Amino acid sequence: MIPVLPGDSSAAFLREGYRFGEHRFDRLGSDSFHTRIALRPVTFLRGPRAAGFFYEGGRFTRAAALPPGVQHLLQDTGSVQRLEGREHAHRKAMFLGMMMPTAMADVRRIYRDEWANAVEGWRGYEIEFRRELPELLTRTVCRWAGVPLEGDEIEARSGELAAMFEYAGSFGPPNWAARVRRLRAEAWARRVIREVREGDHAPAPGSPLLDIATHRGLDGEELSLQDAATELLNLLRPTVAVARFLVFAALALHHRPQWAERFAAGDESDLEGFVLEVRRHAPFFPAVAGTAAHDLDWEGERLDQGSWVMLDLWATNHDPSVWDDPDEFRPERFRGREPGPNELVPQGAGFVEGGHRCPGEDLTTELIRETVRLLARDTRYVVPPQDLRVRMNRFPAVPNSGLRLRVA
Ligand code: HEM
Repeated sequence: MIPVLPGDSSAAFLREGYRFGEHRFDRLGSDSFHTRIALRPVTFLRGPRAAGFFYEGGRFTRAAALPPGVQHLLQDTGSVQRLEGREHAHRKAMFLGMMMPTAMADVRRIYRDEWANAVEGWRGYEIEFRRELPELLTRTVCRWAGVPLEGDEIEARSGELAAMFEYAGSFGPPNWAARVRRLRAEAWARRVIREVREGDHAPAPGSPLLDIATHRGLDGEELSLQDAATELLNLLRPTVAVARFLVFAALALHHRPQWAERFAAGDESDLEGFVLEVRRHAPFFPAVAGTAAHDLDWEGERLDQGSWVMLDLWATNHDPSVWDDPDEFRPERFRGREPGPNELVPQGAGFVEGGHRCPGEDLTTELIRETVRLLARDTRYVVPPQDLRVRMNRFPAVPNSGLRLRVA
């Protein structure tokens, strides 16, 4: 029997944040429980079996799975995330086509170049790393994707893209303000797509912008202007959101200088493990939400069609049945071990083709790996005394000080 928590858990969820599910799975000795959030019945799940159940086999849709304030900032109607079946596979292939190894090499080159430019401006100053990254990543992703940025546009665009993930987990005025900025970003993205279609801007062949602007659905028609703009933002926004992982990567290097020293000395034997461990540990998406597409059977118990289910990503990434000492940061744990598709799930689970797993994992990994190299080897900085505690009930979490660096 799936345990049932009486009453509504909204207050506890807001208080305990990322650890809300973990606390209850451990206490109940169960990888699932029923409760209510905002009075709506919901089932929380954790672990590899749950991740496979949630992500494989088309059992869940994303329709009505998130409050509108979150949905508008992170997905929106017309996006790949709201599609299912053949239409979803076809649109997803467009994103996956952008992530080929040569494209990743281009990202790396462009990012290093933009980093070098940014460091010119940081030198001699104390910067808040968290606040510098959106602009650096916006410049990188736009240059890579073929998206033009007019002279003074960068500040507005990077602010809008950052606001979408900064405030997706907030309520009330901060969330509304971010939605207004999203509307501005959508208008800009529509203009960019229109200019490509009308021949006023010619991005390089094979560039992500050209792919989106000229993509044809299964019906042979181009995407509507609005849907194409949504998908352009679906590429730009999460790439800027990688900023959060970069802050946690820098924090890990600071707390564990032995790793910085090894990478600085050119020993990269555990670099992949380090990047995986940053992604496993950084508190980013606490959970993904879905609604049952039809009546389902979860370990002998029925979940009716329309049931609301949360796959707890944080708790799955810290599931003690998979990870020894799950709260320890230990890149060595990945030596000789490739995590299974349903074990390490900061960007969704299952298989990227045929499911909703994030198509941007290679791009994310590339940016984190390069940032670790740039920080450990190529940039001279110190971390002055500051409040580096991370509040686990702020979504997405960040060190209190934003991680200030004094760049030499
Ligand atoms: C900041 C790092 C990132 C995190 C934490 C993240 C997280 C996620 C998660 C959890 C999902 C699954 C959502 C669901 O199952 O409903 C997802 C899907 C998606 N992500 Fe990412 N992502 C990141 C970076 C990226 C990047 C760089 C891209 C650029 C291509 C991207 C594009 C997408 C898209 C288009 C989807 C929808 C996929 C689908 O519905 O099939 N993400 N992401």
